[in-house]
Amino acid sequence: MTSTVRGVIARGKGEPVEITSVVVPDPGPGEALVRIQACGVCHTDLHYREGGIGDDFPYLLGHEAAGVVEATGDGETRLAPGDFVILNWRAVCGQCRACRRGRPWYCFSTHNARQQMTLSDGTPLSPALGIGAFAEKTLVAAGQCTKVDPAVPPEVAGLLGCGVMAGLGAALNTAPVTRGDTVAVIGCGGVGDAAVLGARLAGAAAIIAVDIDPRKLEWAREFGATHVVNSRETDPVARIQQLTDGNGADVVIEAIGRPETYQQAFYARDLAGTVVLVGVPTPEMRLELPLLDFFGRGGALKSSWYGDCLPERDFPLLTGLYLQGRLPLDKFVSETIALEAVEDAFAKMARGEVLRSVVKL
Ligand code: APR
Ligand code: ZN
Ligand code: ZN
Repeated sequence: MTSTVRGVIARGKGEPVEITSVVVPDPGPGEALVRIQACGVCHTDLHYREGGIGDDFPYLLGHEAAGVVEATGDGETRLAPGDFVILNWRAVCGQCRACRRGRPWYCFSTHNARQQMTLSDGTPLSPALGIGAFAEKTLVAAGQCTKVDPAVPPEVAGLLGCGVMAGLGAALNTAPVTRGDTVAVIGCGGVGDAAVLGARLAGAAAIIAVDIDPRKLEWAREFGATHVVNSRETDPVARIQQLTDGNGADVVIEAIGRPETYQQAFYARDLAGTVVLVGVPTPEMRLELPLLDFFGRGGALKSSWYGDCLPERDFPLLTGLYLQGRLPLDKFVSETIALEAVEDAFAKMARGEVLRSVVKL
């Protein structure tokens, strides 16, 4: 059996996305069919449609989602129809060399559904990040479903599935920020603001937000930045040093993914401080710096993939904090939109008008 649903696909490089019928197989063993309730629009979806991630068109876009399990494959014991879940793209295998060494957030063999979703003519679709959730229903591996409290609105819960988790996790898991740290966050979109929030949750003594857009700096303040720096007007390295007794910040989180802002992060940290790169660079980007500065400064230079999250550990924890009023995740939802408006949402994202547009189904 299959279901036929509406979904947003990218048919070819640079072509506007379109809504079309998607054929979704019933779940086999180890799989789950999920009715999507909300899915955020992320940069990665745009990168797919621009051909920046691969050439496996057509793509079924969307990957930052929450919904309700509709059916599971034979033998499923952990999930049941009716469960409210956040979809994740890190269903860890438990057996690869990273998992065996006790670092499953680096898992090299994460699970996705085995069966393929297709167009009506049978053309196989490549689901974005193994999810494909700009669709009424999607098929994923059961491990890609993390159960959370259904009291969380789906448009809020879904955000933890990608960008907001990346930013929170950059601060909480990768750095990790600890009580009393000074923290600077360079780039205050959805990911950077989530890093600001993570730093606040961890008890940072100061949180310095850096951006070139005054509106973004205002929002960063609402998320808990104690100081803001417009780096179009003020040298961010000098200002961060000034705000930290001339030393630089203990943790600097780069949430853009550009060489010039990475360089700012590198020099804005204290000696033996930590830089976390959570923004995603493009393949042609290069960085040239004196090697002696790497040696002479010590500390740690880290990257953060998906906030080094473990969905089963982090999603229930963070939704729990949201429900207690300690993590204002709803502030990330700039607007809710229909499936038809994904292309418009890409344009708003490119113009920097939103933290997150979220498709509600
Ligand atoms: N200096 C300072 N801030 C900058 C600069 C710069 N040179 N260039 C851009 N910015 C700011 C923008 O004004 C914006 O507020 O960086 C922010 C980037 O935010 P978004 O475009 O909303 O992106 P976001 O969703 O937060 O993702 C950030 O993480 O997951 C990755 O692919 C994603 O690389 C992207 C990054
Ligand atoms: Zn693994
Ligand atoms: Zn994403």
